[in-house]
Amino acid sequence: MALKVLPGPKLSERTTLRLGGRARAEVVLERAEDAHALGEALAGLEARPFALGWGSNLLARDQEMDLAIVSLAPGEEPVTAGADDAGRTLLDVSGAMMLPRLVNWAAARGLSGLEPLAGIPGTVGGSVAMNAGSYGREIAELLVSVRIWDAAEGPRELAPGQWSAGYRRFVPLGAQPFWLALGARLALTRDDPQAVRARTDETLARKKATQPVSAATCGCVFKNPPGASAGRMLDELGFKGRSLGGMSFSPMHANFLVNEGRGSSVAALELLAKARAAVQERFGVALELEVRVLP
Ligand code: EPU
Repeated sequence: MALKVLPGPKLSERTTLRLGGRARAEVVLERAEDAHALGEALAGLEARPFALGWGSNLLARDQEMDLAIVSLAPGEEPVTAGADDAGRTLLDVSGAMMLPRLVNWAAARGLSGLEPLAGIPGTVGGSVAMNAGSYGREIAELLVSVRIWDAAEGPRELAPGQWSAGYRRFVPLGAQPFWLALGARLALTRDDPQAVRARTDETLARKKATQPVSAATCGCVFKNPPGASAGRMLDELGFKGRSLGGMSFSPMHANFLVNEGRGSSVAALELLAKARAAVQERFGVALELEVRVLP
């Protein structure tokens, strides 16, 4: 049996914002091939399933949660799967793989396409599920197929047209509300490894200069409204560095929520509510959360 059920994982230890109480249980899928056993394991737990990757886009409340965390054990290396009609190299990647590792893996082999996504702290599964993006590139643009699991149809391969993707949004059409990204097939372009490495390093340098990459954060907390920048609006309103109960907006980038080490989810949500109200009042814009709040 390649499913492990662990009691009570603590979300504060599993999210980059370092907040959150215990979930009921965690189901760890050790090999994607064993996903067929997930349905039975989840049914036995009687808690709402929630797929957890790197935990870098989550604000978990400091309370016990009626959730069954579902995660994939790391371990599988990407496998090249030939080329498509346009000559692009196809790569099968596990949903468990860390995106930064994949970005490096591709750069070392002269495979181009992922460079703008360097520095995004996520698993491949989580990045697909959120359609992670930066510097004009979203991961959905590179997808040739996605392997998912849900309780109704089990493990299956989705082809383009069978999902809908947008700004930080990925919806497998017809899937159950709970679905898990087991893996993805990406199409990358061959290029000189040094050129791919240089573009990857450029992305990392740009991020280091503008984002608090080593702080305990959950990335940008608000979505950019159409045609506007949440960070710029918050900055103009003086939210850069604003702190409340151990949580703050980064002094580097006003849309990054930071846990100073002694923060709480209550303080975080209060700070976000203040920011939203100020933006609504000054700019007449209702900011939408980009971060996911649990439960
Ligand atoms: N700006 C300010 N003050 C700030 C922050 C930003 O004036 O405190 C200005 C910048 O100078 C720039 C503009 O606002 O002119 C946009 O800022 P930036 O280039 O930093 O990008 P962003 O729109 O704030 C988005 C994504 C990031 C992604 C970057 C790079 C969202 C909500 N955020 O940020 O994604 O890394 O672009 O492509 O879409 C995330 O999803 O968690 C995330 C960090």
